[in-house]
Amino acid sequence: MPLEKLNKDKILSYIPIQYQPAKLEVFDTIDSTNTYLLNQARMGRQSGWCCFAEQQTAGRGRLGRVWDSPPSGNLYFSLLWQFEEVEQLSGISIVIAVVLTYVLKKYGINERIQLKWPNDVLFDGRKLAGILLETIAGKDAVIGIGINWTTPSNYYAIGLTDIAHSLSRNKFAADLITELFRCLAIFGKSGVNSFISDWRKYDFLLKKPICLILPDKEITGIMQGINEQGELVLETEQGIRTFCYGEVSVKKEYLDYVPAER
Ligand code: BTN
Repeated sequence: MPLEKLNKDKILSYIPIQYQPAKLEVFDTIDSTNTYLLNQARMGRQSGWCCFAEQQTAGRGRLGRVWDSPPSGNLYFSLLWQFEEVEQLSGISIVIAVVLTYVLKKYGINERIQLKWPNDVLFDGRKLAGILLETIAGKDAVIGIGINWTTPSNYYAIGLTDIAHSLSRNKFAADLITELFRCLAIFGKSGVNSFISDWRKYDFLLKKPICLILPDKEITGIMQGINEQGELVLETEQGIRTFCYGEVSVKKEYLDYVPAER
């Protein structure tokens, strides 16, 4: 089946009126949708501005990694969002990961989805989507989401079309924007709290021995889930500790996953 190209008008036509973005742009090629919106934010653009690209020439992942962004149907998306309070930014990565589970659930994709703290979306332990959150001047955030569409060359990743059939990219893109706007409104009013129990249903790391990689050190322990603020709770030799950032690695022998009841 030929790849359905992203089309701005089609995407907008699927979005309910109350969740229409302030502006939507669709680029054939761009360096990075996140970089683009960070620059727009610096020029004072408004909250709710979003964009997709068919390919990125300088796609960025977390921790300065490259996000491979070929013109293969993958979704490369960013949204500029302004928060009223700086404190609101903590917990946002938990919310965005949960939003992705809501969108996937609409397509019957639920059972084998896992979330790896803070915000990797996995299917059977293989990466389906990644999230890059960047902030400017405290209250502005650019929420970048990369979703694999076709089968990636990397075995540790998987594409949506490996899991579900007859997907429309434009409809999926619209559902993503709709759920983001719906949930960010809830988050703005009530914080991360309303999303914690949903995040916990998908916890990939729960009870696993992990290594938390911080800029200056590595801490090992048993992952004990997330607390009410969305922080990682780790049982270490020194006792229970919580962390609001860091990268997690899991030993290969612990990668088998038993899903919790949903
Ligand atoms: C990760 O490392 O898991 C996060 C990957 C985020 C990739 C997306 S693709 C759209 C947006 N633009 C970028 O340059 N990065 C994010």
